[in-house]
Amino acid sequence: MANKFYITTPIYYVNASPHIGHSYTNIAADTLARYNRNLLGKDNVWFLTGTDEHGQKIQKAAEEAKLSTHEFVDKVVVQFKGLWKKLEISNDDFIRTTESRHIKTVQKALQIVYDKGDIYEDKYEGWYCTPCETFWPQTQITDKICPDCKRPLEKISETNFFFRLSKYQAWLIDYIKDTVKDPGRITYIQPSSRRNEVLGFLENNKLEDLCISRPKERLSWGIPLPFSQKHVTYVWFDALINYISAVGEFDSRNIYRSTWWDKDVRVVHLVGKDILRHHAIYWPIILEALGIRQPDTIFAHGWWMINEDKMSKSRGNAVNPVEMVDKFGIDVYRYFLLRDVPFGSDGNFSEEAIIKRFNGDLANDLGNLIYRTLTMVEKYYTGVIPELDIYKTKYDPSGENIKDKLKDLPREVCAALSPNNDFSQALAKIWECIGMANKYIEETKPWTLIKEGRQEELRAFIRLLVDAIRRIGEEIAPFMPKTAGSIFLQLGSKEIKKGSPLFPRIETEKK
Ligand code: MSP
Repeated sequence: MANKFYITTPIYYVNASPHIGHSYTNIAADTLARYNRNLLGKDNVWFLTGTDEHGQKIQKAAEEAKLSTHEFVDKVVVQFKGLWKKLEISNDDFIRTTESRHIKTVQKALQIVYDKGDIYEDKYEGWYCTPCETFWPQTQITDKICPDCKRPLEKISETNFFFRLSKYQAWLIDYIKDTVKDPGRITYIQPSSRRNEVLGFLENNKLEDLCISRPKERLSWGIPLPFSQKHVTYVWFDALINYISAVGEFDSRNIYRSTWWDKDVRVVHLVGKDILRHHAIYWPIILEALGIRQPDTIFAHGWWMINEDKMSKSRGNAVNPVEMVDKFGIDVYRYFLLRDVPFGSDGNFSEEAIIKRFNGDLANDLGNLIYRTLTMVEKYYTGVIPELDIYKTKYDPSGENIKDKLKDLPREVCAALSPNNDFSQALAKIWECIGMANKYIEETKPWTLIKEGRQEELRAFIRLLVDAIRRIGEEIAPFMPKTAGSIFLQLGSKEIKKGSPLFPRIETEKK
């Protein structure tokens, strides 16, 4: 069993400002990193994010901004770093592909694969999509249109270097099939529907070798190939290597060494569904060619859409996460993204949907539970939490059910998160507990206990609610770290410090 955890996000292109889609993966990765730090200890978790700074797209964006490419990437990277800071993303490292530690490892990796004979030079003729920076084989296109972005393709003919993907096709098919039979590796490509998609693709198409170079005369902004003066590295070969360049090095015998890419580490890549092909086909083969073990999980999440439409800068419908956080707060934004759709599915983003979750789950359910409980501790016990062991106290059936739920909750959250990274389900389990506690207050009617002088029952009742809120605070901490912090602050160990309601309702205009 792995006792360490290494989690990565894609590295983001710095051709434009970050939007909510980018923040989604980082929030998900942050939640898993925090969850695993609680489970395995802080020193056993490593969380990497970063930026992808080479390639045509970025060179072009810099030209349009009338800046040198260096100046341009330095400027945009500040926005990404600022956003992660604003969202309190707890990444341990941030890699930029323009850093020397990365460039050195990419060149070494290329040389190793070249010396092994898995990279060769050839004349290339093919269809190229400039915005996607992708070559498409004739077999996958119709009408000279990019299958991904639907923009026109260009025909290109030049001398380039090729990586022998085809040599590894049968190996990859077998590898993926084996993981399906092995409970320890079943999470290799997730969700399973995506794994089947990748397998189906591999079984029905012949992999073409991957063009991993670009002639310098066409593109100068890239990592020079160590074995050709005339070429730079194709941006995807460069970018994928970030996962290993950030955490280790090749030794003098060309063996890759890293404490975060080792047998005792669970390596998890979170990616969007659009870049699954690169992560589930190119990356495994690059690793295999380099003699490096495979990651444990490549999880492809869905997309956030705007009115059922794809979000992008060019469509002018990209939502700025900074604005959302300023308007609703970090935790409300995090909660919405993680709760509203299952992690593998697409979701529709709208402020109305956030407000609905806010007023329902956060204001009515969680906020009210905390506020009501604190008010009762204040009113009935002058703010001092009554001493009592709920597990030694006999409750009525509703109270006993809550006790059982509190005991089970960590296991339920764990079962939702591993192996399926089902954040929505994990939160739903926590909210079941919140719902039970609220119902318990309504059923018990504490004011009647007071009226009838049933002091012992009142103490037991209040103490159970306090313990429930503490447990809820512990469980929501990876998802909503700020809220958990303020719960613990308000519910001190002996005395409470009641603040204003955590989530005051947002009034919406009545139509
Ligand atoms: N640079 C590459 C990744 C290299 S990883 C070795 C890249 N960058 S990107 O900036 O274009 O996209 C990064 C991630 O953002 C992708 O995982 C993509 O799926 C995700 N998203 C972009 N738009 C999105 C939404 N609307 N919703 C959710 N995620 C989306 O690809």
